[in-house]
Amino acid sequence: MLIQNVWIENATEVSDIRVTDGKFEEIGPDLTPRPGEEVLDCTGTLVLPPFIESHVHLDTCLTAGEPVWNQSGTLFEGIQCWAMRKEMLSKQDVKDRVRRAVRMQAQNGVQFVRTHVDVTDPKLTAMEALLELREELRDTVDIQVVAFPQEGIDSYPNGRQLMEDAVRMGADAVGAIPHFEFTREYAVDSVNFAMKLAERYDKLVDVHCDEIDDEQSRGLEVLAARAYESGLTDRVTASHTTAMHSYNNAYVTKLMRLLKLSKINFVSNPLVNTHLQGRMDTYPKRRGITRVKELLAEGINVSFGHDDIFDPWYPLGTGDMRDAVFMGLHVCQMMGYQEIMDSYKLISTNAAKTLHLGSCYGVRVGNPASFLVLDADNFYNALNRKSEILYSFKNGRLIAKSAPAQREVLF
Ligand code: FE2
Repeated sequence: MLIQNVWIENATEVSDIRVTDGKFEEIGPDLTPRPGEEVLDCTGTLVLPPFIESHVHLDTCLTAGEPVWNQSGTLFEGIQCWAMRKEMLSKQDVKDRVRRAVRMQAQNGVQFVRTHVDVTDPKLTAMEALLELREELRDTVDIQVVAFPQEGIDSYPNGRQLMEDAVRMGADAVGAIPHFEFTREYAVDSVNFAMKLAERYDKLVDVHCDEIDDEQSRGLEVLAARAYESGLTDRVTASHTTAMHSYNNAYVTKLMRLLKLSKINFVSNPLVNTHLQGRMDTYPKRRGITRVKELLAEGINVSFGHDDIFDPWYPLGTGDMRDAVFMGLHVCQMMGYQEIMDSYKLISTNAAKTLHLGSCYGVRVGNPASFLVLDADNFYNALNRKSEILYSFKNGRLIAKSAPAQREVLF
């Protein structure tokens, strides 16, 4: 198949793309169609690598209001609501909702997903469902599963054993939630436990780290120090780190050295943390977003996640990663022209590093032909105009498509 006349990743010159046997065979200007070759004229459109959801909770998605709504809008009421909903979980219930969510994501150009799955459940129902879905859906989405202890590791009955059971069942990454543990000691011990578990089973690490407005929440320094000392480095991700928003600048300056040494990744979730954080503040109200701009300026890898889709922690969402980018650019004050232009990397290239996808991700000759075609000339306009994702190809196969939006003004 030959895709003609596209701008690849904001390039100013148009290129053609030849896809053969599910791989990018040739990329360049004015490729000549071969006899009998399917030709797709995409003049005036943008090609990007597929979008990546680097932080979401698929097991909780599409449950908002079941059995009760989170009225206060706080993280902690969300955890209470989820504890009630968890009682009603069945494997079928999880699978039905996740299949629907994955289809919503596919419509929005998402082809890779890292989902955290709550393992503070003696039956590990959701973990079992997600591991089965990881196989069932692998032609349309690559799913990474994190064993995520929503109610703590050392603060939940049998928490350590449940974590290890989930890893043995086949989780791809080990999680933790130090800011939710009963004590500071438990917080430190839980991070140490998670890191050792990951080392023992050769897994990635992704910790819900300091998702609280408490400037004393210092899980991040523990995680970064262990990542550095253990050599796990960029196999480790710190998600949320919203307390870093409230740290004093002297401490952040000191911390930044360790963060760079550690080479860990960061995931910020601008939609959900703008909604959840600052809830105990009167005025001024903190934004509760980690220091994305400063981390990027230091050369540290940061991606954006959606985090929650219509669940007890976030009552909106259609699985569109561009919503997370749109919000993130505003709250992080990253609205310079080039920052907006490059912002697709927060949900693609940077996220690929977090997920450890390696060099097979990206629009390059020899790679699997996974890419998006957007109805815009560059990402700035695609974001601003909410342009349609015309095609989503995965390994050379079309998995989702849209028609260009028909918009008419009748005056
Ligand atoms: Fe999360």
